[in-house]
Amino acid sequence: MFEENVLINFVIIFSSGNGNSNGLFSVLIRDYNTDAAAFCMNRLAKLSARWIGNHGFSFGVNDVDPGDRISTQKKLKIEQGYDSCTELISKYWKTKLASQPGSDAAELVEAEITGVLNQIRDITGDVCKKELHWRNSGLIMSQCGSKGSVTNISQMITCVGQQSVGGKRAPNGFMDRTLPHFTRNSITPEAKGFVANSFYTGLTATEFFFHTMGGREGLVDTAVKTADTGYMSRRLIKGLEDLSAYYDQTVRNSSGSIIQFRYGDDGMDPAKMEGKNGEPMDFNQLFGRILATCHSDSSTLSPSEIHKITDKRLSRFDMTPEGGCSTAFRDSILKFIENKVESLEKTRMLFKLDDEKFGVQKSDILESLSARLSGISDRQLKVFLENCISRYHSKRIEAGGTVGAVGAQSIGEPGTQMTLKTFHFAGVASMNITLGVPRIKEIIDATKNIKTPYITAVLECDDEKSAMFINASIKKTLLCEVATTMEIVLNSYQPHLVVELDMSLIENQYMGISAFTVQESIVNHRKLKLKKEHIQVHSASKLMISPRSDSKDPLSTLYTIQTKLPQVIVKGMPSVTKSVVIRDKEKDRRGGTNEEKPKYKLLVSGPDLLGVMGTPGVKASATTCNHIIGVYDVLGIEAARKCIITEINDTMKAHGMNIDIRHMMLLADVMTYKGEILGIQRFGIRRMKDSVLLLASFENTVEHLSNAAINGRIDEINGVTECVVLGVPMQVGTGMFKVMQRTEVPISLNYSPDPQFF
Ligand SMILES: *[C@@H]1O[C@H](CO)[C@@H](O)[C@H](O)[C@H]1NC(C)=O
Ligand SMILES: *[C@@H]1O[C@H](CO)[C@@H](O)[C@H](O)[C@H]1NC(C)=O
Ligand SMILES: *[C@@H]1O[C@H](CO)[C@@H](O)[C@H](O)[C@H]1NC(C)=O
Ligand SMILES: *[C@@H]1O[C@H](CO)[C@@H](O)[C@H](O)[C@H]1NC(C)=O
Ligand SMILES: *[C@@H]1O[C@H](CO)[C@@H](O)[C@H](O)[C@H]1NC(C)=O
Repeated sequence: MFEENVLINFVIIFSSGNGNSNGLFSVLIRDYNTDAAAFCMNRLAKLSARWIGNHGFSFGVNDVDPGDRISTQKKLKIEQGYDSCTELISKYWKTKLASQPGSDAAELVEAEITGVLNQIRDITGDVCKKELHWRNSGLIMSQCGSKGSVTNISQMITCVGQQSVGGKRAPNGFMDRTLPHFTRNSITPEAKGFVANSFYTGLTATEFFFHTMGGREGLVDTAVKTADTGYMSRRLIKGLEDLSAYYDQTVRNSSGSIIQFRYGDDGMDPAKMEGKNGEPMDFNQLFGRILATCHSDSSTLSPSEIHKITDKRLSRFDMTPEGGCSTAFRDSILKFIENKVESLEKTRMLFKLDDEKFGVQKSDILESLSARLSGISDRQLKVFLENCISRYHSKRIEAGGTVGAVGAQSIGEPGTQMTLKTFHFAGVASMNITLGVPRIKEIIDATKNIKTPYITAVLECDDEKSAMFINASIKKTLLCEVATTMEIVLNSYQPHLVVELDMSLIENQYMGISAFTVQESIVNHRKLKLKKEHIQVHSASKLMISPRSDSKDPLSTLYTIQTKLPQVIVKGMPSVTKSVVIRDKEKDRRGGTNEEKPKYKLLVSGPDLLGVMGTPGVKASATTCNHIIGVYDVLGIEAARKCIITEINDTMKAHGMNIDIRHMMLLADVMTYKGEILGIQRFGIRRMKDSVLLLASFENTVEHLSNAAINGRIDEINGVTECVVLGVPMQVGTGMFKVMQRTEVPISLNYSPDPQFF
């Protein structure tokens, strides 16, 4: 029994902080020292080895046998999923699906079915997690993080799940169907690649085929990706390798030019950060430890005393910006203390209320109890503050730190783990966005024509009507979309072309188009060469085009006009092909935030940021765009820097990767510090760097070397590559400082030493 408990505890301990800075050993190193961590590690290793020696650990067919309980549950869950799919499909055939913005019914039903089917795999995974015996070897392996995930176990035991090709369900390859085993146009789960069997029960023939389709894509994807990510890493390293932190906290390149005035805006070392989002400290953890280990000297502090002590400590030199402390950190300490005081007050209030309930006699006991429960003593507070501050200062980036190489690696390595190429916006089936490796590549290459540019426009009036109105005024609308008829009438003496507009559609979508605006649009269309007098407006919805009187063959002129007329843009910006109104679903989830989120936003595809920002009704100051060069052209270099940071951040977040923001800041600064956007590629790096050897070691070796020879270029041998090439110590890390030694009084120089100096 004892041993079983030990095993459980191991699993809990190791999985609680898997791979991040809150693991057991990280905390030990942080709170005690490396010796304590090594001691603990040693003992755990001995214990584990002994335990494994006695019990063994293996994984066999027994472990993937589902058993009755799991089998019945799996059957139930899959049936439930299939039922909801059947319902969706029958609804679809009746085309009764409520249409969602920007998608037609087929896309919508596809998205919904995919959603349902993808859920099945998660659900069966949960079933596994709940129902499997805790000694199941697969479960132990996945939970303690040694190999595999719950999904992998679930695939072996319950259900392999939906197979996808290109992010979609299996495509139709055999005349309107995936395989000849199914009826045409069938979109049932089985016919589109859902594998309901597990690897244990075995796949049917069609399931097996779908599985190979999915598996093949995975292999191709990996093979293609490795080349891309490898080259990307190499370029990042070449672009950033010589950047290091200096004694004055700046980040400079090897010839001493400043890239950042303070690394990551706060000068902290990303490797030592404790918080999830790169905050330097986990105050709660430290506070808890102080309360537990530092004995309170009876008296607890009142809120005003706490504030006084805190303010006094925070006004000392090492908490000022000159002393190397960021204001953000100072504020976070203050906020933490504030919250503590608040919760302390709340507990006191509770005790007071209880007090009234219980009567007076208990109040003394409660008073002392409340003080002991929630109070913090003078000594504890001081130790806490002292600890916070000294720990903070120990986390600052050290001079000589190779922030460039570390940053490049931190961005390049996660690239190898990214999958899938295009994604859909959540809830908007028809809008594609590029993510993953291709997107990161676009960003660091500073590509001019990105695949899926889009603009998020925030509206000034936050209601549906104005959203639709602005939607209509931004999106390109062609005449053929709003016209019901466009035909040549051959009556009487002169043939003419009649255009009639669909007024109900125009009104429903708030397009604000009438025969008069169409007349103007046609006149402004260059290829048609029509003048105002050729177009008669009959009513608000009808106009007539008569050919130019001087033309010899009016009818053929009319035919030419008729072919070109549908393409006339009657409303909106020519570059915008798609524009969707999205409603923010996560309304004030946290409740307490003072800033109210806009409910309606406009997602505009296309790179015309200036046009969207200039549209009346759009809040220009809150409008964002994912096209970095476009942002640079419209808003300047600082906006472009910010854009690079957020775009990399968002892409990484979309893949569930958590990269310290300081690395992205450094990359963005390297790309923008010259005052223009330089990609981390051949042409950009050439303009960022002067060193001949560095450039020659990157690409176009012969060209760089011969140019340098012809032009008599000098290389100072400061950077990392140059030093490696010549075999001299490089000037980063411990090679950064130089020891100066006074030699004998120089004879050759006419030099008289300052007598005071000796
Ligand atoms: C577990 O499943 C994931 C997703 O299906 C897959 O990428 C991974 O290779 C699997 N792991 C193992 C160890 O097979
Ligand atoms: C989304 O991207 C895929 C793959 O690039 C493409 O086939 C599809 O047509 C795109 N869909 C839209 C709506 O742009
Ligand atoms: C936005 O405009 C597009 C094209 O004009 C239209 O299809 C869509 O329904 C509009 N969306 C809303 C919410 O009005
Ligand atoms: C990065 O992304 C996370 C999560 O989406 C967000 O909380 C954070 O503010 C972002 N950071 C920046 C600098 O945009
Ligand atoms: C460092 O930056 C300066 C200023 O942009 C640049 O001229 C120089 O070439 C860079 N040095 C190296 C070694 O790249």
